[in-house]
Order: sequence, then C-alpha cells, then structure tokens
Amino acid sequence: MVKIFITGGAGYVGSALVPRLLEKGYDVVVYDWYIYGNVLSSHPRLTEIKGDIRDREKLIQSVKGCDILIHLACISNDPSYELDPDLGKSINHDGFYNVLDAARENNVRRFIYASSSSVYGVKSEPNVIETASLEPLTDYSTFKAECERILQDAKTDMEWVIVRPATICGYAPRLRLDLSVNILTIHALIHKKIKIFGGDQLRPNINMNDMVRVYELLIEAPSEKINHQIFNAGYQNLSIQKIAELVKSVINDPSIQFEVTPTNDHRSYHINSDKVKKVLGFETKYTVEDAIRSLVDAYNHGLIVDGMNNPLYYNIKTMQKLI
Ligand SMILES: NC(=O)c1ccc[n+]([C@@H]2O[C@H](COP(=O)([O-])OP(=O)(O)OC[C@H]3O[C@@H](n4cnc5c(N)ncnc54)[C@H](O)[C@@H]3O)[C@@H](O)[C@H]2O)c1
Repeated sequence: MVKIFITGGAGYVGSALVPRLLEKGYDVVVYDWYIYGNVLSSHPRLTEIKGDIRDREKLIQSVKGCDILIHLACISNDPSYELDPDLGKSINHDGFYNVLDAARENNVRRFIYASSSSVYGVKSEPNVIETASLEPLTDYSTFKAECERILQDAKTDMEWVIVRPATICGYAPRLRLDLSVNILTIHALIHKKIKIFGGDQLRPNINMNDMVRVYELLIEAPSEKINHQIFNAGYQNLSIQKIAELVKSVINDPSIQFEVTPTNDHRSYHINSDKVKKVLGFETKYTVEDAIRSLVDAYNHGLIVDGMNNPLYYNIKTMQKLI
C-alpha cells in the first residue's frame, strides 16, 4: 500500500486532493497547521497530524513510513505573505529545508513540490514554457523559485518533480475566494456586479478537478517520465474581461453588471502546458465554465456561507487574525 504524506493537505488543493487519493486506495498522512480550520472528513486510511513544518523534529518523526511526499504547505499568496514577510520566509523558504530533510531521512521515494507559474513573472512571449527564465516579481514567487533551486541542487537519490500550477479555480471543501475566477464569481452572485480592473490582462487558469488529476499523474507516472522534471499545469489563458463574461453567461443573469476601472497594472501572465500533455499524456477535462458552475451550485446549496466576509475563504483575512 502506497502511503502519501501531504504537507498543507487541509488547504484548498488538499481538501480536493486528499479525498480523491483515499478513494483511489492510498494511505494518506496530512501534516498541517490548520490555519483555515479542518474540513477533511475522517477516514480509516487518513492520518491527520496538526503540526508546523518549522517544527523539524516533529516533521521528521511524522514522515516515517511514507513513500511519496507532496509539499503544499505555504503562505500561499502575495498579500498574506507581505503581511509578515519574516513569518512568510520562515515557512515558505526555511521550512522547505525541513520538509526536504524529513523526506530524505525517511527514504521517501518521490518528492512532489507545488511551485507556481508566478515564478516566470511577466513575459511578452505568448508561450511560456518550462525552460523560460524565472523572473519572480514578489517575495512569494521568489521563494517558490528559490525552493525549486534548493530541490534541484539537493544531493539525493530521491526522485523529485516540480509542478508550476496556474491559478486554480472551482469549488473545494476548503474554499478560497481570493483567486481570480472564484472572486469574480462570488461578486457576481452576491453583488450582481463584477469589478474589472483593466480587463485585457491574461491569467492562466486550471480547474481544481484537473489540478487533482495532475497530482495523481505525478504520483503514478514511472520515474523516467517525471524524475528531475518541471511541469507547467494550466489550461485556459483568459483575459479578466473574458472570465467576467463567462461568469455572467454561466450564472445567466442579465442584471449582472460590469464595472470597468482603468489600471496601471498591466501585468499579463500566460503559460504553455504542452509538456505535461506530451510527456504524461495529460488532457484537461474541465473548463473554467465548469469551475464557475461548481461555485454557483455550491452557493445555491448553501455551501458558501457569508461569501464576501468569511475570513476562512480569504487567506489574508485569516492571516490578519492570526498575526
Ligand atoms: N491555489 C492556487 O491557485 C495555486 C496556484 C499555484 C500554486 N499553488 C500552490 O499550491 C499549494 C497549495 O495551495 P492552496 O491554494 O491549497 O493553499 P492554501 O493556503 O489553501 O493551503 C495551504 C495549507 O498549508 C497550511 N500551512 C501553512 N503554513 C504551514 C506550516 N508552517 N506548517 C504546516 N502547514 C502549514 C495551511 O494551514 C493550509 O492548510 C501552495 O504551495 C501554493 O503556493 C496554488
């Protein structure tokens, strides 16, 4: 039985990934600080450990017996990071060494690192592939890039693979409403108004269901296909204006208005994800429209409570309370 250790497994991605891995028969250990509470349901093959990746000894003890480690734990957006850069660095950078050492000391077979497509910064070329130079613009992205380098330089026989996800969208039990598609959707649902700053800037997106499928592939692919590789994981590169139009058409409410505000922030991100398709045979199955639909369904079923104000949906609001 393969045992998978997931740092940050109670977060947005983890709350969708963990149930899927349990359903597939894996043993799963979640190691999380539970900043945003715990939405994971108990399961006979799930072990949950409340811990901080900065607690090196506890982490090393906890990884014992695990075959694969997925490192998701992170202060996972720019504003939350900037709230307390020392705390951010201690987790996103210094904590990475602990996770790496815990994997090595316990002879973990495969280390999967969740980096981010934000490591590229802003590029003018339309197809940003994995070999493009890294020009991160914020501390959050800088340390994502730095941890990639630490992993690449690590002296180890352990298999490792890096994934650079686009912005994820769609419903998950630990919901984040501070991500582009999700923000526009909740505003349209609650305020019947979508505020668009600029509108032409491109954003790369990936539906949560596809993101989970990418992690499944990274767990299951043979070593020769993934070892020492980096994969972008994105699907639709869409302008903010286009996302807003999709939100309006999925909700199908003509009263929804757009409020366009000019902006000086013309940062435009787009990534190419041909490699994950070519090497691992990954085909996306879910669209941004599907993600919007999943949020609308969740909202209509009362699964999103106080969507504009609930700190649990907004990393920055919870971090403000924590610090
Ligand atoms: N969500 C996205 O759109 C996206 C895009 C690109 C990359 N990523 C990366 O994927 C990973 C998961 O993202 P997410 O959206 O699920 O983030 P999230 O903020 O929802 O989850 C992060 C989890 O890490 C935990 N955590 C934070 N600090 C910790 C610590 N010191 N010790 C133990 N646990 C700690 C939190 O409690 C939380 O459960 C992150 O590394 C993120 O940078 C996410």
